[in-house]
Amino acid sequence: MEKRQLGNNGDFVPVIGFGAWPIGGGMGDVDERTAISTVHAAIDNGITLIDTAQAYRTSEAVIGKALKGRRNEVFLATKVSGHYSRDAIRSAIENSLRQLQTDCVDLYQIHGWNPEYPIDESMQTMERLREEGKTRYIGVSNFAVDQMKLAAQTAPFHSLQPHYNLLDREIEAEILPYCESQQIGILAHSPLAKGLLTGKYTPDYQFPEDDERSRMPRFQGEGYQRNLAKTEKLKAIAQRRNLTLIQLAIGWLLRLQAVTCVLVGAKNPEQVAEHIGGQGWQFTDAELQEIENVLAETS
Ligand SMILES: NC(=O)c1ccc[n+]([C@@H]2O[C@H](COP(=O)([O-])OP(=O)(O)OC[C@H]3O[C@@H](n4cnc5c(N)ncnc54)[C@H](OP(=O)(O)O)[C@@H]3O)[C@@H](O)[C@H]2O)c1
Repeated sequence: MEKRQLGNNGDFVPVIGFGAWPIGGGMGDVDERTAISTVHAAIDNGITLIDTAQAYRTSEAVIGKALKGRRNEVFLATKVSGHYSRDAIRSAIENSLRQLQTDCVDLYQIHGWNPEYPIDESMQTMERLREEGKTRYIGVSNFAVDQMKLAAQTAPFHSLQPHYNLLDREIEAEILPYCESQQIGILAHSPLAKGLLTGKYTPDYQFPEDDERSRMPRFQGEGYQRNLAKTEKLKAIAQRRNLTLIQLAIGWLLRLQAVTCVLVGAKNPEQVAEHIGGQGWQFTDAELQEIENVLAETS
């Protein structure tokens, strides 16, 4: 498994990470035994960065159980979600450490920007947690460039976790170049566009009610149909290289050295095993152009 350095002086982490939102049940129920064996499959396959969050339902607790006796094999990242006052952050990390059954995480991230909480107080608290040894690194998620600049005035941080995949490229204009110039590591989230880039759903596919996708506009109407048509064309490009669409989608993110790690969600060991093939190869310029052409199509 290829490794890249997190930020300018952080650990070398695997380029594929385990996104632990689905095993918390947010994308449909996953029983605990399956969730634990999925975490083990990730580690056994070299996917030794795990990303979870306070808000990921049962995810932290399941990971805590899965990591019994294996904590030192992984780079463990979690987040404080929603409320970022000093007290809220302190109480969130204590709870996360308890759930994760560890006394220190490797990366602690602010899940998103919330204007209700002064960023200097939030970042000061994050920095204190780092100094106290409760986390080795600190990071932010879903921040714009201005927000990162404000955060960095109080405390330097190692990473941004933004939304980035073949169908969601907003970060390319400003956020990505900024992170590259500041040597802020990028952990790309939702790399399969919540599963759309698996190419496995049909136009009339019904997501169960307990799956967040049953309420997402992206999985409904004309936009959904248009994206399904694009995934079929991307799948054909992947097949010519003996890759799956999932592997193409992961490798496409890794074409940029600025992307430190791609956080891929999975619900069972078989899904995890497929992700490994998303690294270890390169696109040709012609293939990248062909992909651009497919993405630029509007109908
Ligand atoms: N910071 C943030 O605000 C934020 C937001 C979103 C996500 N994240 C992070 O990013 C991670 C990844 O995002 P995500 O999990 O939401 O979505 P994702 O990785 O884009 O997609 C995950 C879904 O793709 C499908 N899938 C994955 N591997 C597959 C395989 N080999 N074969 C068939 N289907 C496969 C599964 O869908 P089915 O359920 O249909 O099987 C799975 O639930 C999260 O787990 C989380 O760690 C962070």
